[in-house]
Amino acid sequence: MSYYGTTDYVTDDDFILRMKDIRKGNLDLGWLDSGAEQVKVNAASPRRGLTYLDLNQGSYGYDDLPEIPRGPRGCAPRGAVFDIKTQVDLGPELNAKSDVWAYKVASFYEEAISRQWDATTDIPWQDLPKYERSEEVEIAFAQLCTFFTEVEMIATDLPAKWCWRMNNQFHEVKGFIASQAIDEARHAEVFRKRALAGGVGLMRALPQVEHSLKAILESDTYSEASAFMHLLAEGNILTMFRFSEFISPTPLDKRMFQLVMQDEARHVSYGLQHLRWVLDHSPERREQLHVALDEAENFSLAQFDSALFEAMIVLAGKGTSPAQIQKGIEIVGTLQIRQIEEYFQRLRRAGFEDRIERSKFRELLAAVSLSGKDPQLPS
Ligand SMILES: [Fe+2]
Ligand SMILES: [Fe+2]
Repeated sequence: MSYYGTTDYVTDDDFILRMKDIRKGNLDLGWLDSGAEQVKVNAASPRRGLTYLDLNQGSYGYDDLPEIPRGPRGCAPRGAVFDIKTQVDLGPELNAKSDVWAYKVASFYEEAISRQWDATTDIPWQDLPKYERSEEVEIAFAQLCTFFTEVEMIATDLPAKWCWRMNNQFHEVKGFIASQAIDEARHAEVFRKRALAGGVGLMRALPQVEHSLKAILESDTYSEASAFMHLLAEGNILTMFRFSEFISPTPLDKRMFQLVMQDEARHVSYGLQHLRWVLDHSPERREQLHVALDEAENFSLAQFDSALFEAMIVLAGKGTSPAQIQKGIEIVGTLQIRQIEEYFQRLRRAGFEDRIERSKFRELLAAVSLSGKDPQLPS
């Protein structure tokens, strides 16, 4: 315990007297007229139900929230009446709207809540033994699942780390990243379960990946962390999930990747819309975000040299014979080009196209002779 009250109420005469008064029926009732705004809210779509978008009205809404909402630093819900002199100061570090806000964030929250799934029962685990696959393919898949489990654990920590630092005026963002934390916990769960259910178990933890994950966690600002994690890292993971669905050894694995992809696409979209918001409303941060992504890209490059990519080559080629490895290399090369192309597309959509000229990824593509290749997956 480190925060102590200023009064010991059991020995406070005024407090005891007031308690006795209330018990005699001498109520104050001043709170009955709080002075809060009255609004009428209705579900725009009765089928969908009452959403945060329907509550976007007046002092309760988010459209009218200014860039710097001077006011409570405690947990007065937006729209509630509060006395600034008696509000507790929780010391939030993110107090400007553009520190955290994203276009469409209320919709992302609603979608997250309505599309939760269950790794225990939504994957037909009992069917796994029915599907034939070679031992080396299963081992490679277990390595891929080990990598995903590492990544997903930090993807759980990152939103949790920043959530309580945000001013409670931004509850739609806080709700969204809380939903992200549970999505990521479920992703770590499903990949762990898959590695063990296949009979191989977990394989090697990857230091290249973990250094990158540490850099995400230690980003100086939330927007830098978001650009690194949501836009770059999860964007890469989303491309990998799509690729992994394509090379899945069993239909059960395809199902698993379809479920994680719908969550991951939402996280990436939030990151894209946050970056767009920052660049539109706080353009002075552009260079700071460039510098953060310079290093983020550098960390991401390191992952191209790891057991992970060999495992993906074996999976893509469906084995370790020279012909299978050659086929795997071609498919994984396509994946790498796709990852970078899709990252560049996200930068364009966020209004950050000047990043593309500066990106280290262009040099990497040239260095490994992948520049100018057509990123189509073979059928
Ligand atoms: Fe995830
Ligand atoms: Fe994610």
